[in-house]
Amino acid sequence: MKKTDAAFQKCTNPDCGAEFDCGQAIFKCPRCGELLDIQYDWNKIKVPKKMSDFGRRWADRDNKSDFSGVWRFRELLDFCKDKYRVTIGEGQTILQQNDPVGKYVGMSPGRLYLQYEGLNPSGSFKDNGMAAAFSHALMTGAKSCACASTGNTSASVALYAHSCGLKCTVFIGSGRIAFGKLSQAMDYGAHTIQILGDFDDCMRQVQDVCTRLGLYLLNSLNPFRLEGQKTIMYRIIEALDWKMPDWIIVPGGNLGNSSSFGKAFCELKQLGLIKRTPRMAIINAAGADTLNDLVNNKKLVWNGGKVNQKIIDDYYAGLTARKFSPHTCASAIEISRPVNLKKCLRAIDVCNGVVRAVTDKEICDAKAVVGKHGLGCEPASAATIAGLKHLRREGVIGPDEKVACVLTGHPLKDPNVTVSYHREKQGQFSNPPVDVPNDLDKIIRLIN
Ligand code: F0G
Repeated sequence: MKKTDAAFQKCTNPDCGAEFDCGQAIFKCPRCGELLDIQYDWNKIKVPKKMSDFGRRWADRDNKSDFSGVWRFRELLDFCKDKYRVTIGEGQTILQQNDPVGKYVGMSPGRLYLQYEGLNPSGSFKDNGMAAAFSHALMTGAKSCACASTGNTSASVALYAHSCGLKCTVFIGSGRIAFGKLSQAMDYGAHTIQILGDFDDCMRQVQDVCTRLGLYLLNSLNPFRLEGQKTIMYRIIEALDWKMPDWIIVPGGNLGNSSSFGKAFCELKQLGLIKRTPRMAIINAAGADTLNDLVNNKKLVWNGGKVNQKIIDDYYAGLTARKFSPHTCASAIEISRPVNLKKCLRAIDVCNGVVRAVTDKEICDAKAVVGKHGLGCEPASAATIAGLKHLRREGVIGPDEKVACVLTGHPLKDPNVTVSYHREKQGQFSNPPVDVPNDLDKIIRLIN
């Protein structure tokens, strides 16, 4: 490691703790195989004294880095020189206070906020991570990249790759991806490979392919991606006039977001930029609830980094033995072997987190409520609202606590789930189209 660098990669396994400079694209600790973190020597970085100093930059629209919702916070992810920074306008998102959705879940007026990450260039939160990871890819001289995906990662990777001039290959599970996302991957020019398997199969293959062919890997195993995703939390606090919410609620798939949010709060606290950390709720779909099962039933915990590997190994052996493949209408989070599991346990530890699982029916109803009263979202994102409803009912979250749900993807990502819900009257909020003959009187009678 070059000791002059302020940022470096460090193994998250406390028994290993190996360090590497940021010039390398390695993705897992070469010594012990565990996940890597980006760490900073804060003495070498001029971090603004207060969070509001970051917010001022946004007024400077001529400076691309100031305008980016990721790079505006650059001192908090200071791993690359200005010349490598990639931005295509990510992070221009809205935190919307929403009382009708709040009422649906049992919150008092003024207490529920929805963070619309679907407003990013490729329509999901992934763009925050890609701005950071593609900057690192350019830093390391990468020419070609790849990812496995349930859809949004592939859309975002394809968009950033063609903006940066990298070749890109995406692996998707055949029949497991929503049409909006598949259409983006193809339209943005990705080499799209469909594997006869699920996301977990794709994830295994892509790691081997990247190693064999020297491709730059863009899944959330990549610690630089998680640095970009920290900014979602910064923007929520910014929109709350730099005040902390009581709860952050996020869907759990490969567990990159939850891991990154925990790291964000841990660092802000360490830097004295915030006084307290919000609590976090991570919501699985019931058909893909590995985290929920491991945390709530098997009592898996972070334990200072000494995670009980046997519990995980036994659990995964059980999945293999019964040939388990996850199934949920929230295809974005249809994942049973989340790669960031251990980092997520750390985030749960930092944020006094809880985990819940919600059914597809609960997800679809919640999605319709966000559609009717908000700006809409895709199914995985609505798991947050369904999860909040559970946590309110249980009394874990009080009606007057300030809650921010991260709506991770745009409603147009998955038109099939939406159209089926309404057309086939699948739930209490279904709003099907009505057929009428091509006749003015009949049309007017129908409207009246
Ligand atoms: N919400 C959406 C809309 C997603 O696309 C994903 C993940 C998640 C939530 C879960 O986030 O992995 O950080 O826990 N999508 C990945 C993909 C897996 O390939 O697009 P996570």
